[in-house]
Amino acid sequence: MALTAEYEAKLYHILRIIAGTLAHLLSFGFTVFVTTVARPGSSLFSWHPFLMTLAFSFFMTEAVLVFSPDCSLLQSFSRKVRVRGHWLVQVLTVCCALTGLITIICNKYLNDKPHFVTWHAFIGLITVLYICMQSLGGTSLLYPKLLNWPLAKLKVYHATSGMIGYLLGTTSLLLGMCSLWFTTSVIGISWYVAALCPILVSLVIMNQISSAYLSRKRIQP
Ligand code: HEM
Repeated sequence: MALTAEYEAKLYHILRIIAGTLAHLLSFGFTVFVTTVARPGSSLFSWHPFLMTLAFSFFMTEAVLVFSPDCSLLQSFSRKVRVRGHWLVQVLTVCCALTGLITIICNKYLNDKPHFVTWHAFIGLITVLYICMQSLGGTSLLYPKLLNWPLAKLKVYHATSGMIGYLLGTTSLLLGMCSLWFTTSVIGISWYVAALCPILVSLVIMNQISSAYLSRKRIQP
């Protein structure tokens, strides 16, 4: 029996609510899990995984989900309030990412270890620099008249480049989970379950951004 268009739309809406709720829970759960493993404060190093996970798993995910039509925590608020929530959480992301970067650089310096020699370190550095640039670029959306570009186009560029930033963050998290420190602390099936969290959340985020901004209809002037 063929589904009616109305029933199909309802089903799709319910699936999007489930996926969005899962993204909230997984990004929070993953952050709590890494925090438990790292025990922030137990050493200088311990702040690095904690702050980076807080930034890229929790804050950055919430900063995007705030615009979700199905599961935003600011669902009942106006677009203006959501935009404010987005950039405030993005500022927190950048602060945590920069502090996490400074922490690991200081830790390596104190332990006389070489800098930026692993894939995690290399991609991680690019990620932090990228989200700083992305956040600076985002300010142009607050003052579009300064650039004299159509706001709709600026939004699409910001969303596309945000998607790249989010994927870089997820890649850095996953590479961090491949480090000797993490693989000796978290073993067996737990590692795979933990790795699934940022992967699943990034799929929900990619879907939200692409269906909101990158469909052909939205890009056409
Ligand atoms: C998106 C999040 C992350 C970013 C951007 C990031 C960035 C970095 C950078 C730039 C370094 C190298 C610093 C240097 O060489 O002076 C580094 C080192 C390190 N990070 Fe992360 N990190 C992130 C998440 C994590 C997570 C979640 C873990 C653990 C689960 C972790 C574990 C480590 C370890 C063990 C090192 C030292 C070994 C190495 O250089 O590869 N990181 N990180």
